[in-house]
Amino acid sequence: MWVSHLSLSNFRNYKNAEIDLNPGFNLFLGANGQGKTNAIEAIAYFTNLSSHRVSQDQALIRTDCESAIVRMRVQRSERETLLEFQLNKALKNRAQINKSPAKPRQLTENFSTVVFAPEDLQIVRGEPSVRRKFLDQTQTLRNPHFSALISEYEKVVKQRNALLKTAKIQRSQGFEKPESIVTTLEIWDARLVELGVKIWRARIQLLHALKPFFENAYQQLTNSDHQLSAELITNDISNFVELSDVEIQERFWDALNANRASDFARAQTSIGPHRDDLELSLNALPVKGYASHGETWSFVLAMRLAVAELLKKESTAGDPVLILDDVFAELDKSRRDKLFCAAQDFEQTIVTAAVADDVPKNINWHVVHIQKGEVIPGEVTNV
Ligand SMILES: Nc1ncnc2c1ncn2[C@@H]1O[C@H](COP(=O)(O)OP(=O)(O)OP(=O)(O)O)[C@@H](O)[C@H]1O
Ligand SMILES: [Mg+2]
Repeated sequence: MWVSHLSLSNFRNYKNAEIDLNPGFNLFLGANGQGKTNAIEAIAYFTNLSSHRVSQDQALIRTDCESAIVRMRVQRSERETLLEFQLNKALKNRAQINKSPAKPRQLTENFSTVVFAPEDLQIVRGEPSVRRKFLDQTQTLRNPHFSALISEYEKVVKQRNALLKTAKIQRSQGFEKPESIVTTLEIWDARLVELGVKIWRARIQLLHALKPFFENAYQQLTNSDHQLSAELITNDISNFVELSDVEIQERFWDALNANRASDFARAQTSIGPHRDDLELSLNALPVKGYASHGETWSFVLAMRLAVAELLKKESTAGDPVLILDDVFAELDKSRRDKLFCAAQDFEQTIVTAAVADDVPKNINWHVVHIQKGEVIPGEVTNV
């Protein structure tokens, strides 16, 4: 799939902008702070209805405005679809597909992107929650029902923790654990195990599916035979990647039972997919703390490229749009060229750069010059 036109109205620093795009390679070119990332953020928003930079929609609405509107014309095979979302400060957000009202979620069924941005270094350097989010957002792109499973599971963890807290308060007031609390806890435990095993299975399968693409992308980018690994780890259940669902279920129950007293003491659920981490290593050493800056950058870029290749292979709706924001700063010429070689596989790639000298010259670029939240008229040229 590819985006043929983007309209922005009161989105970030754009008042009104109309941007034409081509299939193949597109370049958003402009000095720092002009609105390049803002424009790709608008496109990427259609993928999972959230910004890749901020968790609150509020920041996306132009200062002093009540709402922002983003429209996009998307080409899939021979079909053209008009997608629109309206972000409102005071009211609920609204969506339209081909000018008819739609549920915002339906936008995501019609479009997908894979974005690589400097923030992605947090996948290596940040907290485990960043790595869980990477896994879960990727799995949701493969199977939109997965996000409902995650939300349901998170609700169960919250309710179980609330119950443990109630028990803790009652204990501090001199009451013994009442029977009703023990019975309710058993219900939450059963639900935790049921949903947790499904999440683990999906995460394990996702990593398995990504592995060959990940290794291939890293090899393609770096021309090296480094050993890569991205392995799911969880508290108190060792080697669980190799277990069957029934075995995982049994170990989950064992771990819950073994930790019940401390869960009561801390009013926290200490076992489950909400505590997972992804162990990332290069040549058997953790990427965090050992890999060089350039290696880390290539590692994360290879993870994103692997996601794009996997979606391309599995999707019937066409390739995801590949978006590369500020990717050049850390890559030497050889890696830049190799990245563009890999990107040629996709129907559309959108790249941002502050100077034209940063991007390879031997590519037929469709260039959009951006300045102070405006597209400079008549300046759509090749580099
Ligand atoms: N809600 C908003 N309303 C108005 N302006 C905003 C809003 N959010 C961000 N901006 C402005 O947008 C500009 C940043 O745009 P953007 O991040 O797209 O820059 P960029 O062209 O990608 O720059 P760089 O090359 O440094 O990455 C900043 O000047 C910021 O103040
Ligand atoms: Mg930027």
